[in-house]
Amino acid sequence: METRRIGILGSGDVGQALGRGFARHGWDVKLGTRRPDELRTSMDEGDGVSVGTFAEATTHGDVVVLAVRGDAAEAVVEMVGAANFAEKLVLDATNPLDFSSGDVHLSFGGTDSLGERIQAKLPDASVVKCFNTVSNIQMIDPEFEAGTPPMFICGNDDEAKARTEEILVELGWPGAMDVGDITAARYLEALVPLWVRVGSNLRTWKHAFTAVQ
Ligand SMILES: NC(=O)c1ccc[n+]([C@@H]2O[C@H](COP(=O)([O-])OP(=O)(O)OC[C@H]3O[C@@H](n4cnc5c(N)ncnc54)[C@H](OP(=O)(O)O)[C@@H]3O)[C@@H](O)[C@H]2O)c1
Repeated sequence: METRRIGILGSGDVGQALGRGFARHGWDVKLGTRRPDELRTSMDEGDGVSVGTFAEATTHGDVVVLAVRGDAAEAVVEMVGAANFAEKLVLDATNPLDFSSGDVHLSFGGTDSLGERIQAKLPDASVVKCFNTVSNIQMIDPEFEAGTPPMFICGNDDEAKARTEEILVELGWPGAMDVGDITAARYLEALVPLWVRVGSNLRTWKHAFTAVQ
């Protein structure tokens, strides 16, 4: 059964922006972190977001957002355990980024992606790549001077993608641009180093990519 309960795995900029944003839209949100006690003291109770472990956030509702560091994403999913994700919609916002050289590049890609790895670890969940190509400041109630584009998404399950689009519309997006099965995560993740370069050139972090014809 569909609920209005969502667990967000991640307490960084993305986790907090999505947590507060979903709560503002009337969702019952639990944010997952390795350090719930510490985070509880810094989150404002007025934000309407409760805090728990990664496992508690995962089991909180039937929708889960994965919003942890790319290089920790697989370990977090393994730690929580695939059974806790069964039958859930998992919105994967992560990117396998490596900043170690001072520039940003993908840790892996081409014929592989974090989206595919997460789906492979969660065979009984429906993973939809979503939110990974936009800034956390635009994820909820986005505002673009040139008009808000549809959110790029991909995944193997059409029903899960339809539900994702419903959620996106509720959050202020005009809809989703479905670019195919989860292998398309290779290309959505590969957009991100380009997004960083374009942002540096334009001196903004509010931009997004879209297709025009
Ligand atoms: N920042 C953006 O605007 C943006 C936009 C689109 C996509 N993304 C993607 O969204 C994800 C989250 O990004 P972010 O900017 O919010 O912050 P981040 O620093 O990439 O991630 C913070 C989260 O990762 C967890 N984490 C870090 N190292 C860990 C480890 N070794 N084991 C377990 N958990 C670990 C932290 O756990 P604790 O809570 O325990 O500290 C925290 O919840 C990333 O994959 C990023 O590429 C970011």
